[in-house]
Amino acid sequence: MSKLTFTARTFADISKAKTQCAIVAVYEGQLSAAARALDSAGSGSLDSALKLGDFKGKAGQTQMLPGIGGAARVLLLGCGEQAKFDQAAARETLQGLNSALGASSAGDALLHAADLVSDKVELDWLLELLARSLVSSAYRYSATVAKPKDPLALKKLVVNPGETLAVKAAQAALDTGAAVGRGINYSRELGNLPGNICTPSYLADEARKLARGNDKVRTKVVEEKKMRELGMGALLSVSAGSDEPAKLIVIEYKGGEPDQAPQVLVGKGITFDSGGISLKPGAKMDEMKYDMCGAAGVLGTLQAVIDMALPLNVTAIVAAAENMPSGRATKPGDVVTSMAGTTIEVLNTDAEGRLVLCDALSYAKRFKPAAVIDLATLTGACVIALGSHASAVYANNEDLAANLLAAGEVTHDRGWRMPLWDEYRKQLKSNFADLANIGGPEAGSVTAACFLAQFAEDYHWAHLDIAGSAWNSTPKGATGRPVAMLARYLQDRVGAGEQGKKKKAGPRKAGPGRARPGKAGPKASS
Ligand code: BES
Ligand code: MN
Ligand code: ZN
Repeated sequence: MSKLTFTARTFADISKAKTQCAIVAVYEGQLSAAARALDSAGSGSLDSALKLGDFKGKAGQTQMLPGIGGAARVLLLGCGEQAKFDQAAARETLQGLNSALGASSAGDALLHAADLVSDKVELDWLLELLARSLVSSAYRYSATVAKPKDPLALKKLVVNPGETLAVKAAQAALDTGAAVGRGINYSRELGNLPGNICTPSYLADEARKLARGNDKVRTKVVEEKKMRELGMGALLSVSAGSDEPAKLIVIEYKGGEPDQAPQVLVGKGITFDSGGISLKPGAKMDEMKYDMCGAAGVLGTLQAVIDMALPLNVTAIVAAAENMPSGRATKPGDVVTSMAGTTIEVLNTDAEGRLVLCDALSYAKRFKPAAVIDLATLTGACVIALGSHASAVYANNEDLAANLLAAGEVTHDRGWRMPLWDEYRKQLKSNFADLANIGGPEAGSVTAACFLAQFAEDYHWAHLDIAGSAWNSTPKGATGRPVAMLARYLQDRVGAGEQGKKKKAGPRKAGPGRARPGKAGPKASS
C-alpha cells in the first residue's frame, strides 16, 4: 500500500518554498501566475526553456528543469490552451503529471494549483482526481513476485491552492481522492491475486479485517450449512463442484442514523470460473481469476467509505464461490431451487454468476435497502457490446440509474444505460423450470440482467456488468473499477434524501467533484 501523503497549504513567497520539485502550470504559449513568479526568481529561465520550443505546453506534456530558489527542480506542467481547459484536458494534464512524478526521484513535490481552473474545471474536483490518480499510480503488485517494480519515489505531495480554494476545502478534496485511490488499489490487489490464494475463504477473512477495530463495521459470514437452511439452492449449485466452500459475506457499515435505510452493494465473487461442467476453452482461462472483481469492487468501495467515515449506512454482500467441474458438480439440465422459490434450469454451468447473485439479491431484502446495486463480471457479451470503456448499467428505477451515470461522468469511471425490456425476458423461458439460466446467443448481457431483475423486484435495484471495465488484458491487471463511480455515488447520497423520491428543488451543497449541470453530463435535478 502506498505511503503517499497529501497536504494543502499556502505560501507567502513561492520562490522561497522548500521542495524537491516545484510544479507549475504552463498553458500553450503562456506561463501561469506561479510559473511567472518562479521565472522572475530564476532570472527568466522558464521563459528561455519555452523559447527553445521543445516544450509547448500541450495538455499532458511536461518538462523537468533545474531548480530555482527553494526548489531543487521545477516541473513545467503543460495544460493545453487556456480557453480549452476542460475536464478532458485536466485529465490529460494530470496523466502527464503522474508520469513525470513516476519517472522522477523527487521524494516530495509542491504543486502550485491555483491556475489549474477554468469555467469548466473546479479546483476541488481536480484535486480529488489528482490524489486518486496519484495513489492509484503508486500501486505495485508484489504479493507473488520476488522483484516488484520500483516503488514511486514520491512520498509527499504539497498542494498550494493559492486564493482559488480554501486550504481546508483543498485538504478535504485531497483526503477524499486519496481514500478512493486506496479503495481502488485494494480492489485491484484482490482482483490480481491468483485463485489459489484469493479463495472464498480468503475474501471472508478480508471482510473480517475491514471490521477489525471499528465498531461501526460488522462482518458476518454465512456458511454453506446456513445457506442450505435459507434455501439458497442456486448459490450452492455453483460451489457444488469445488472443494472450496462458498461464503456469503455480509459487512454492515453504520455511519448514518440507526434508522436510515442502507445502500446495499452486492458483488459477484467467483474466485475462479472454469465454467464448471460446461468447461471453458483453455485460452485465457487464467483471466477467470478476475471473476471476483464485483466482490473486489464492493470491498474496495466499502474500504473507501470507512476511510472517509461517510455519514451513511452501507451494507456489502459478497457471494463468493469457485466454479469447478467434478463428480459432484451441477450438470447442464439440472434444476435447482433458489432462495426466492423460483426454480432454475441450469442449461449452462458457465452462466454461474447469475446463480450466486440471485440468492444474494433475495438475501438483500432483509436489510430493507434504500437501493441495491450489484456488480458483476457477468458476461462476455458485455465486453463485445461496450468494450472496456463503460460498465453496463441496468436499473429498475430511473433516479438510481441517473445518479449512477452522473457519478460515473464526474469520476470518468463511466457507465452506459442498457434496457431491461420484457421482450428480452422472454428469452429466459424453460420447459422444465420457472426460468432458464441462459437466454441464447443474442443480447447476452441484457438477458443476464433480466434474469437478475426477477429477484430484485421488491426494491430499487441497479446492476453493473463490469466484465469489460474491471480488468485489462494487456498488460494484464485489475483496474479497480467501478470503485470511483460507487464511492462518488455514495458521497452524493449524503444528505440527498431517499433514493427514488423526487429531490427538492434549490441548490445542493457543492462538494468535491459533485456533478454540476452542463459540466458533467446527466444530472437529475439541481
Ligand atoms: N465470468 C463469465 C463472464 C466473462 C467472460 C467475464 C469473459 C469476462 C470475460 C461468466 O460467468 C460467463 O462465463 N458467462 C457466459 C454466459 C453464457 C454461458 C450464457 C459468457 O459470457 O460466455
Ligand atoms: Mn462463467
Ligand atoms: Zn463467471
